[in-house]
This record gives sequence, structure tokens and C-alpha cells, in this order.
Amino acid sequence: MPEYLIKGGTPLCGQLAVHGAKNAALPILAAALLCGRSVIHNCPDLTDVAAARNILHYLGCSTTQRQGTVTVEFTGGGDYRIPDRLMRAMRSSIVFLGAVIGRYGMAEVSMPGGCELGPRPIDMHLAALRKLGVQIDESGGVLRCTTPKGLHGASITLPFPSVGATENVMLAACLARGETRLSNAAREPEITDLADFLNAAGADIRFASDGSILITGVQALTGCEHRVIPDRIAASTYLSAAAVTGGEIILTHVCPDHLSAVLPVFEEAGCTLVCGADTIGLQAPQRLNSLGTVRTMPYPGFSTDAQSTMLSMAALARGTSVFIETIFESRYKQVGELVRMGANIRVEGRVAVVEGVSQLQGAVMSCTDLRGGAALAVAALAAKGESRLRQIHHIARGYENFDLNLQKLGAQITRV
Ligand code: EPZ
Repeated sequence: MPEYLIKGGTPLCGQLAVHGAKNAALPILAAALLCGRSVIHNCPDLTDVAAARNILHYLGCSTTQRQGTVTVEFTGGGDYRIPDRLMRAMRSSIVFLGAVIGRYGMAEVSMPGGCELGPRPIDMHLAALRKLGVQIDESGGVLRCTTPKGLHGASITLPFPSVGATENVMLAACLARGETRLSNAAREPEITDLADFLNAAGADIRFASDGSILITGVQALTGCEHRVIPDRIAASTYLSAAAVTGGEIILTHVCPDHLSAVLPVFEEAGCTLVCGADTIGLQAPQRLNSLGTVRTMPYPGFSTDAQSTMLSMAALARGTSVFIETIFESRYKQVGELVRMGANIRVEGRVAVVEGVSQLQGAVMSCTDLRGGAALAVAALAAKGESRLRQIHHIARGYENFDLNLQKLGAQITRV
């Protein structure tokens, strides 16, 4: 199994272009099932994207990936049943449910397994799809969905602005008969990017001033050419690596607005930021100050996905930082590994209290999940001595060329 060998202590410096957003590319790939031929630019080369392409092949699409462009063409001859092995290959494969129902009028998928972040229930997805006319039989861990009277519009309010549930409603409603109003919808930039893709393919999706999403069903979608937005979480990860190593970097091909709740935490920690239209420059202090209290919230609040690498920054900062994780049940899986490096972190449920220490020691560690794994790499880059990071397949799910990008910034990281 490949591992990362990281020698800490080198301040990261230089310029790096950030890849396209994983969490925009995945729902857009699902949406391509509803279209004819779609050309998706700035699509990141990730294992989760490869898993999504495998699912599309099974569903009757052909796909190609050349550099950052993925082309998807619906050729027919697919199946509305996604096999368990493909569903389990990617936690977010549940987003295909709405697209398969939109394409075939029925779907059969296995209940997505939990993941490292907790049970990952889909009750909100199913309740919303039922409102759109989907009959769902949940038995034996398999969801059997049919639409005896076809898909029809509905007025739906989500109990929580779930990103995945919002995406499934958009995918199922864009070809339904009539109007759908989705209230308390997620507002992440990836939702807007999905709407842009669908509208370019002929859908009619609008955003009301109260954040509701209005979808008027259309007869069919054609296809389109679309460029995926930058990955705001990957951007935050590389900024964290520069911040914790006392470095100075410029990120390009990013959208600073998408990080409006995250950048102030870097400034609170003592970093100097200079933002351009599609660049973010960060200059780190010799040692970070406390990050204060970081509470994760649905967008536009502080993103839960940016919390993990910020925790690594706090581990080495002056003073105490407090993290309150309100989105996922257990997003502190990597804390045990950080403590083995000498971090002083106490976790009580969704709260983590971090007493910064002046130095971490390199260690042999195992990644627990995607963002937790990135957080361990960030800590190792600042630690004294050498670290060995195992189970790095978690990192490959969401970061394109992770080690090569860090090497470009001067990090001593090699894949062995
Ligand atoms: C998306 O996950 C992202 N994944 C996650 O990024 C991200 O952390 C999350 O949104 C929140 O921003 C993709 O976009 C592929 P949710 P999703 O539905 O859609 C609970 C990463 O690191 N919930 O907004 O699964 C759920 O358990 C990943 O890139 C229900 O209870 O997130 C969670 O606690 C990790 N019932 C909370 O809501 C439901 O039916 C937020 O979930 C649905 C969700």
C-alpha cells in the first residue's frame, strides 16, 4: 500500500493552481446522465471521479477523461440498478439516485454505507423524493424506487439544508411535471454550479431571494459544455499547510468569495491575506496565534470540510482554540493520531479544545478519512523529524496530485 514520507520543518513557498471542485464535479457527473452529450472542463482527476464514471458506464453512458476535461454521452443500454460494489465505492453515490429516477423513472440502489464521519443517513433525500412522486421500498438494505404516476413538482422544505438532498431534488425535479419549490435548501457554491450546468443543458432552475430553489420541469435536457468551479476545500487545505509551516504562497484559479467564512480564521491566527479576483495570497507568521472559536455551519458559514486542517494549525498555535462541529457526528477521527505527535487536544462530543504546543514530533500515522488525512499531512509538514502516513487512498479521493502539489511548494513529501 502506498504511503507518504514527510519530513517536516520546511516553510511552504510558491504558487499553486487549485483543481476543480470534487463536490461540484460529482453531482454534475450524475446530472450528465439526464443529458445527451456533456463536456465538463476543470474536472479533477480523483478516485471519487473515477468511481462516478464507473457508475455512469453502468447506467448507459460512455465517458472519456483527457487532462481536466470529462466528456459524458448517454448511449442507452444501461441499467437502472446500481450494484452494491459501485455504490460502496463512493459515499456520495447516493446523488445518482435522483438522476437515475429522472432518466429511467425507477432506480434500485443499495443503501449507502456509513462512512468515517458517522452514519450518513438519507432520510431527507427519501422524504423529498417521495414528495416528487417516487415510491420507495426500503428492505434488505436496498432502495427500490418507482414512479407509478411519473415525477411531479412539489413544495418541499428540508429540515436541514442537506447538500446531497438538495442535489437529489434538483436532479429529480428538473424533468418532473410542473413546479417544485425547495425551501431551506443548501446554499453551497457547488449547488449553484450544479444549477448552472443543468440550466445550460436546458433546465429551468432559479434561486429565490429567500434561498429557496424554484425548479420548473422541462421535457428534456440536451447537453452542454461547463467548467467546474474551483475546489474551495482544497484551497483551504493548501493555505493551512502554508500557515502552519510559516510559509508564503499564492493560490491561483480559486474563488476567494467561496471562502468568505474561512479566510477570517487565517487572519485571526495571524496570517496576512491578499485576495485577487481568482487568487489568494497568504503570508504566515513565524508561529500562529489561537484561532479563537471555530464553529462549523452550513454555507455560507464556516465549512465542516475546512475544519480538519484548521485543527492541525491550532495544534501548533499559541494559546487555546475551540472547535464546535455542528454538521457531522464524528469529524475528529484524526485527533488520536495528532495526539501521538504530541498535540494537546481534548474532544468532548462535537467540541474539541486545542491547547497549542510549540512543537509536534513526526510519527507513523494512518489516515482515517479524506479531510482528516489531509490534516495529518498538514501537521506532519510542520512537525519535527519524519512522519509516515498510511491509508493515503483516503486523500486521493479528494486531492489531485496532493504530494506533487506540496512538492511544488517546497514540501519534503514523497510517495513510497
Ligand atoms: C456534502 O456531503 C459533501 N460531500 C461533504 O463533503 C460535506 O462535508 C457536506 O456536504 C456538508 O457540507 C459531497 O458533496 C460529495 P449533507 P452530504 O447531506 O451531502 C445529515 C468532503 O470531505 N443528514 O449536507 O452527505 C448528515 O448525516 C465531504 O468532501 C441527515 O441526517 O452532506 C450530516 O450530519 C465530506 N439526513 C448533515 O446532515 C439526510 O437525509 C449534513 O449532511 C442527509 C443528511
